[in-house]
Order: sequence, then structure tokens, then C-alpha cells
Amino acid sequence: MSSQLNIPETTPHILVLGMGGTIAGLAASPADNPMQYEAGQVEVASLLTHIQSAVPNGIALVSKQVANINSRNLTEPLMTTLGETVRQALDNTMVKGIVVTHGTDTIEETGVFLQLTCGKHAQNLGKRVVMTGAMLPANAPKADGPSNLLDAIRWASTSIDNCPGGIYAVMDGRACLAMDLAKRHGSALNAPIQASPSSSVGLINPSWLSGVKAVQALWVEDLPIPRENEWPWVEILTSHAGARPETITHWLSAKVKGLVLAGSGMGGFHDAWKESLVAAVKHGIALVRTTRTGAGETLPNLPEKELSGCLASGSLSAPRARIALQLSLNAEKQALAVGKSLTWQDFFARIAVLPVIR
Ligand code: SIN
Repeated sequence: MSSQLNIPETTPHILVLGMGGTIAGLAASPADNPMQYEAGQVEVASLLTHIQSAVPNGIALVSKQVANINSRNLTEPLMTTLGETVRQALDNTMVKGIVVTHGTDTIEETGVFLQLTCGKHAQNLGKRVVMTGAMLPANAPKADGPSNLLDAIRWASTSIDNCPGGIYAVMDGRACLAMDLAKRHGSALNAPIQASPSSSVGLINPSWLSGVKAVQALWVEDLPIPRENEWPWVEILTSHAGARPETITHWLSAKVKGLVLAGSGMGGFHDAWKESLVAAVKHGIALVRTTRTGAGETLPNLPEKELSGCLASGSLSAPRARIALQLSLNAEKQALAVGKSLTWQDFFARIAVLPVIR
């Protein structure tokens, strides 16, 4: 049997969810200027039609357009829709694996969101959810999207070296946990993967795989997906030379529920913030510390004693720590609603201990 597109959903298949991004982008003059393009222009069904002849025999594909945006415009309600779509698809016995095409600008946020809300479920069911994207638009002469999409479909559909179910990402011939994928270069073709601990798609690195299993062993329970209009408001503030207390006090009169402090070095912040951060804690604002360096862990009580009420983010970058804090605040609210006295700190601490894969 050759590969089949848009077969009836009552047949076993791989579900490909389209979110947009450069992988679905179009350049006006692709040969002369491929980087001048609009993201989120091509339907995911059409991306599949272009690679159909290369999809391995026997793989049936169903596509669903969840959104078609430039991912810099990603919204929280859209994340809710995607999370619920992924959960429903995981529960569908006809869906053998899921691919999500996504813009790379905020794939970091969606990757950690899917891990924390659907990761355990995917692992328990032995199904892989695989995110992918591209750095060049679909009509560029050397577009990287088709090979990334093919790799993602293969990764989602085949039993690769005993690799467990879970939330992964595939780009530029390499695979990693989606929560590890981050764009750390504006334009390089391997930008999203180069800072991520990864393994070659074709030949899984055993030490990487044991890292995946270590993360999965510690991630024991998925967090609830916030309802569309119930995402807690959390901002990221960066500490820098010349930081002012007003950067913090400004938020005390707002309805903000949490602040992620992207500190310098090991995640320290400017002394000018100290008093206003104490006031923020008194106001009931949740505080999390991370590093603005883009790599490395932020540990408790380093570089100095912790401000009471402020948690260190472990290996989470600022954008990931923001999603983790939102999900933790939402989980606290849901727990309270059923009479459980778990706090956002309890939930966040479970996330901040997830080990870094090296
Ligand atoms: C986007 O994130 O939607 C645009 C950039 C990209 O996909 O690489």
C-alpha cells in the first residue's frame, strides 16, 4: 500500500496538525530573496500533498488545520485549542501518532506546554507527538520544511529503537524532547535545534535516550490545560544594567498574577529591584527566577540567598518558565476548587527539577 492522504478518520493514521509558521510560509520572490516571506500561508493539507510520494508505504495521513499564523502571534486560547486537540487525538485509538507543524519563533513555548499538559498521557499510551517547523518558506529553492515534515511523520509512525511515547521535536535531521527545543539564532538553518540536546533521527544516541527516560520518570502527572480565557497573566522582566524599581512597582496595580525574572548570570537580579520584589510577594504575585543568558540552570539560593517567595526555575528558559508558572497557577486554582491545598509552588517545583539532557 502506498501512503494515503486524508483517508477516513476511522482508519489507523498519523494526524498532522497545522499551526502555520515558516514551514507554511511563502516568499514573493523565492529565488532572489527567500527570507522576505509571509509565514502561515499554505494549508497543512497542501504541505502533505507535496511530500506524498516520499512518505513511506503504508502510512496513512489525516490533516487538520488548527491555525495558520506566524507563531510570534501565538495566543493562549490557541494553545488551549491545540492542547485539547492533541489530548483528544491521543485518546483516539485510530490515531497512531501526531505531528504538529509550528512556527519556530515560539515553538519553545508550545513544546513545554504540550510536555506539561499531555506528556505523561502520550507516554502512557505509547504514542509520539512530534513538533516540527522550518527556517525557509515552503516555496524557497532549498526549503527545509519538506524533509523536516517527512522526518517528523517517520518519527511519529515507526517504532524507533524502543523510543517511548512522549512529546518530541524534529528539525534538521535531529530529534529532541519538544520541551528542549529553542530557537537560539535568528536565521541559521539549524537555529532551533543547535542549542537543544538532541539525537540524530536515524541513529538514536543511547545517552540521549536515557536522558529522555530520566525526564519521563520524574514527570508523573500532567497539569490541567487552562480554559481559553483562564490563563493567569504572567510577564517576563529582564534584569539589566541600570535596572529601576519602577519596572517591578509598575505591576503592583495591575492584575498580573506572576512575574518571571530573567536575571543576569546564574539568575541574579539587580539590587535596585529588591524592595519592590518584596512588595510584589506581599501583593500575592508569584515570582520565578531564571537566567537571561539563554543556557544553564538557575539553582535555589544561587548566586545569593533566595528572596522569600521566589522560586528558581531550574533549566527552564524565561519563555518556558512563563508557561510553567501559568500552568502551575492554574493547577493551584483547579486543586483549590476540589478542596486540595496544593500551591503553585508545589506544581512549579515538580517542573523545575526536570533534569537537563546532556
Ligand atoms: C514563525 O515562527 O511563525 C515564523 C518563523 C519560523 O517559523 O521560523
